[in-house]
Amino acid sequence: MSSSVAVYPGSFDPLTNGHVDIILRGAEVFDRLVVLIAVNRSKNALFDIEERISLINEVFADYPNITVDSFEGLLVDYLKDNSIPVIIRGLRAVSDFEYEFQMALMNRKINPHVETFFMAAGESYSYVSSRIVKEVFSLGACVEGLAPQPVIEAMRKKFGT
Ligand code: PNS
Repeated sequence: MSSSVAVYPGSFDPLTNGHVDIILRGAEVFDRLVVLIAVNRSKNALFDIEERISLINEVFADYPNITVDSFEGLLVDYLKDNSIPVIIRGLRAVSDFEYEFQMALMNRKINPHVETFFMAAGESYSYVSSRIVKEVFSLGACVEGLAPQPVIEAMRKKFGT
């Protein structure tokens, strides 16, 4: 019997509870969900790839159908190499739509066998992004409830707080 697999790609620098919400709901729809970290050497990252992999593995340790991987290069090449047909992306607000739609169409142009499935973000997380969580945390705000506990602990270590 064939099983359904999807990837949820992103930077995850770091994983937020908005991501966690999409991942858990995605993993109920698909038999297997790969959280796929994009290696982007031009971005100034807070966490390196190994740290991000380890944090995501820790958060989803109790979910055998959620796995983590990383890739460099084109997302559609990863999908082809791993025979995965579906990309999941979360939409927080209308402002996300233009960029996400452009990416979905470009990915389909490069590889017509790939489909992008959009999931509406949980309403409590519609304002949450990795960038804003890092920024407010670094300036001393409490981010409890916005990122998983292991991520908050790791940020405390990074920022020495
Ligand atoms: O979390 P992000 O930063 O919004 O994720 C964007 C990501 C990593 C999914 C996107 O930039 C991507 O797929 N990068 C890999 C390179 C690629 O395939 N680019 C073409 C996309 S049309």
